[in-house]
Amino acid sequence: MSQFLENVFPSEDAIPDQFRISKPIEQREYLINGEMKTWSGNLNPVLSPVFVKEGNQYVQKIIGSTPLLTSKESLEALDAAVKAYDMGHGFWPTRSVTERIEYVEKFLAAMRKQRSEVVKLLMWEIGKTLKDSEKEFDRTCDYIVDTIKAYKDLDRNSAKLIEEQGFMAQIRRVPLGVSLCMGPYNYPLNETFTTLIPALIMGNTVVFKPAKYGVLLVRPLIESFRDTFPPGVINIIYGRGRETVGALMESGKIDVFAFIGTNKGANELKRLHPKPHRLKSILGLDAKNPAIVLPDADLNNAVSECIAGSLSFNGQRCTALKILFVHKSILNAFIEKFNAEIKKLKPGMPWDNGVGLTPLPEPGKVDYLRELVEDAKAHGAKVMNENGGEYRNTFFYPAVMYPVTEKMRLYYEEQFGPIVPIVSFDEDDEAINYVVNSNFGQQVSIFGTDSKRVAKLMDAFVNQVGRINLNAQSQRGPDTFPFNGRKDSAEGTLSIADALRVFSIRTIVATKGTDENKQIISNIIRNRESEFLSTDYIF
Ligand code: G3H
Repeated sequence: MSQFLENVFPSEDAIPDQFRISKPIEQREYLINGEMKTWSGNLNPVLSPVFVKEGNQYVQKIIGSTPLLTSKESLEALDAAVKAYDMGHGFWPTRSVTERIEYVEKFLAAMRKQRSEVVKLLMWEIGKTLKDSEKEFDRTCDYIVDTIKAYKDLDRNSAKLIEEQGFMAQIRRVPLGVSLCMGPYNYPLNETFTTLIPALIMGNTVVFKPAKYGVLLVRPLIESFRDTFPPGVINIIYGRGRETVGALMESGKIDVFAFIGTNKGANELKRLHPKPHRLKSILGLDAKNPAIVLPDADLNNAVSECIAGSLSFNGQRCTALKILFVHKSILNAFIEKFNAEIKKLKPGMPWDNGVGLTPLPEPGKVDYLRELVEDAKAHGAKVMNENGGEYRNTFFYPAVMYPVTEKMRLYYEEQFGPIVPIVSFDEDDEAINYVVNSNFGQQVSIFGTDSKRVAKLMDAFVNQVGRINLNAQSQRGPDTFPFNGRKDSAEGTLSIADALRVFSIRTIVATKGTDENKQIISNIIRNRESEFLSTDYIF
């Protein structure tokens, strides 16, 4: 335990009133078939990463509990979703685009009212700063607004007949079926909703299981889901993954699997589906994004982007920079500046003004990070920054480790936390080989000003990763950009527009352009006899 971090955790009375949770939230509700059910079985305690000082003791805050449902309830949720989809003939999949948009708009209006409650729970459950928690909420609302806009655009482009080689046809996107949506603990609202909302708006029905941590924050939204969507369209379950989700996959009735987590978890679940060819997966998985800092990089910019890239939300972003390759000639200057910037990051609680470093939500995470540091030290690396690697309970102060080599776990493992491994290099090929041989292929960041050298690196990476960032940290946004990865980092592509495609398939109505067929088509359109075949233009 660190003396330096002695005062990092507050006493109860130092927690601002508006953010205090005076009484644990005992959640027993879950949503199936439009009905709020009450669970009378075992509950899972929700431990906050925040400890509270009581005299000389530190006590971990238990902020509530959530239902530990079993496979029985999760299969009930599945049945409700299957029934609501009704082989594509259900009320929801047969609504018009305009109607489904109206439902989602209504949900968004209700969701906005829960902002302060959700933000508060984001802070308590996963330790995200107030500023970042607000950003997560607002970004999610913007994502919904933009999704609606993109869906209108998509529909407008389909609102016409095409003629090709004597055929006339109309092509539209239609839903796939029942979707299982599961998000990650680091963006439990935003990343979950980047699949949940597109799945719903395209006409799929959904079983939604919140992330491992960041579970209670869904509670303020359950009534909005229940009151907005028709029964069975969205069902929300809680409990242990293997038991609840495993049963769903084994049933073979899941058509789309949207999962953000580890490739190991995704593989285990996918394997349970009896008809893999009927399962469409959209996965956001592990990553170990490197930064490559060239000798002529603008050092101030490289350091500030690498600080944000490796340490925002304590490094717990899938897109975080998880290893820095710094050219030998600028190594000392880089580390010196980098350490000076770390010192400016204020350790504290999520609601503290200007806080930059907060406690970590995963049980056992601090021990894991300590193991990584010890392993690196045993193989010759040193902690380069003052107080680096000091810890207290769930708080781990960032450790800058150098020199990191291929002998160390930090070279390969995704630390998903506040450790910054630095590798020095002479030849650019050393960094290129790292990316080529990595199991992951999400993003890379290049820092440099020599266009020829930068271009050579870019070209070396285009077939390795999904995004190459020049003089910028790795990141997902803007949300209109395609977000994907190669190897063990992802399956499929998400963006506002791509997500609508992922949760749908194109269906064509086609006929030979004879006079008789033209007359039938014209009747259908003029008399509005079909929902699908229509040239209505949404404004
Ligand atoms: O954890 C992975 C997120 O998709 C990263 O998103 O780059 O906007 O933080 P971000």
